[in-house]
Amino acid sequence: MNDAVSDIKKRLLLDLNGRMSEDCVCSLRRTATQAVPGAGNASAEVLFIGEAPGKNEDLQGVPFVGAAGKFLDEMLDSIGMRRDDIYITNIVKYRPPDNRDPLPEEIRDCSEWLHEQIGIIDPLLIVTLGRHAMNHFFPDLRISESHGKAFRREFPQGRAQVFYALYHPAAALYNGGMRETLKQDFLRIPALLRKLRPERE
Ligand code: URA
Repeated sequence: MNDAVSDIKKRLLLDLNGRMSEDCVCSLRRTATQAVPGAGNASAEVLFIGEAPGKNEDLQGVPFVGAAGKFLDEMLDSIGMRRDDIYITNIVKYRPPDNRDPLPEEIRDCSEWLHEQIGIIDPLLIVTLGRHAMNHFFPDLRISESHGKAFRREFPQGRAQVFYALYHPAAALYNGGMRETLKQDFLRIPALLRKLRPERE
């Protein structure tokens, strides 16, 4: 990607993330410390989408900085990637109280921002972390059957996006079997990218 396009993406995302902090109508704003818009490379080939910020993310304003984030970093390392190579965000941009599951109306209120982020980054691959992120795009899928599989979805104004479903690192952290499955599924990301790159050329 040329430098001019990268600069434009960076500026658009900065502007969007700033507006998100000021204009989001999500009721979670009332209890959260701050917005956690997303972090990383605006020109990334891979966009990771988690569920919602937790306590550490709420305090720091950055996604995946706690134990699940550390596990995610280890898995990125296993495929030769770092946070600077990816963009990472959540379907919900504010921490739900006591880390409860986000409610449908909270997901709806935050999804406008998420869909704009996808439009700007226009990644080669969207990796969903956990069932909430996957079900936002594919409501009928079950994570136990869909993890480690890729899916394609058309967006009304934009190109089709390819999704890859993974278990959530926080769910897999203390579950040996799920942890191993997640690590194995993660290792398939580079091959998927190699397969998708020619489609963009
Ligand atoms: N879990 C998530 O889904 N997102 C975060 O940012 C942190 C933990």
